[in-house]
Amino acid sequence: MARKIIIDTDPGQDDAVAILMALASPDDFDVLGIVAVAGNVTLAQNARNALKVVELSGRKDIAVYAGCERPMRRHLVTAEHVHGDTGLDGPDLPLPKLQLEAQHGVDFIIETLMSHEAGTVTLATLGPLTNVAMAMIKEPRITPRIQEIVMMGGGYFEGGNITPAAEFNIYVDPDAADVVLRSGVPIVIVPLDVTHMIQSTPERLQRIRALGNRAGDAVYKMLSFSERFDLAKYGSEGAPLHDPCVIAYMLKPELFKGRHINVVVETSSELTVGMTVADYWGVTGRVRNATYLRSGDAASFYALLTERLSRLP
Ligand code: RIB
Ligand code: CA
Repeated sequence: MARKIIIDTDPGQDDAVAILMALASPDDFDVLGIVAVAGNVTLAQNARNALKVVELSGRKDIAVYAGCERPMRRHLVTAEHVHGDTGLDGPDLPLPKLQLEAQHGVDFIIETLMSHEAGTVTLATLGPLTNVAMAMIKEPRITPRIQEIVMMGGGYFEGGNITPAAEFNIYVDPDAADVVLRSGVPIVIVPLDVTHMIQSTPERLQRIRALGNRAGDAVYKMLSFSERFDLAKYGSEGAPLHDPCVIAYMLKPELFKGRHINVVVETSSELTVGMTVADYWGVTGRVRNATYLRSGDAASFYALLTERLSRLP
């Protein structure tokens, strides 16, 4: 039985790869919709990028919505320095023919959760949590109906990536992250501690390029663009690949290790705002609210990613 999911995203090259991985797996995922959020670049650009990626996948049955264009409280911080001005620099993807749905993405999330059987829809979040938090605030009845939230965000042992303390998705909207972390919904956090182990080495990128299909070529160009910043910053053999780990976890959780702990986010200190304080050693006695992943099997991840991409046009 395919798992019903909503993908909330700010594409971004790594988001795009995650979306392709999910859309390549119709037996595993019933993607009810894709909702764009402001993050890597502006909402309008992220939404356009999401449409481009859906068209690249060849899936004609997928609806794309635009959600919130700014965080709940703070000013929007974007990441063109990593993803390029379009947010999807690398391949030259055609302007999408597919149109955005008219409904606001937050209302789509609410309507979908209220209309499907409680406990059967998972939210896979790849960007700031603004849309999810706003949906919970606008319609609190959705919260107990959410099966699980599998979110890329946060970091503890790895520290941050946009500041020394904070990971980008959480940093952009720490208030939204706070709402979600306090919601009581079953949460799986895929943090930098994991994604920094999942590195797109030249050999792994070449294997994707060698698929010879449109998707493989586009992913190779996307990651070859977005890796520049991280390779220069970290000096590692390959750049970390973040968002596809969310999809891989839902496909093969056995590729990852973690534990159920308490995670709280800093929302006020200017020094550490957006920091996810992960009580990995259970020293606080605070309620355990998230499964926090700490490691992943990179070789098996790339084998899975490459195989799924091979299924696309
Ligand atoms: O910190 C990594 C996260 O921020 C990823 O989701 C990437 O797409 C950016 O949104
Ligand atoms: Ca993202």
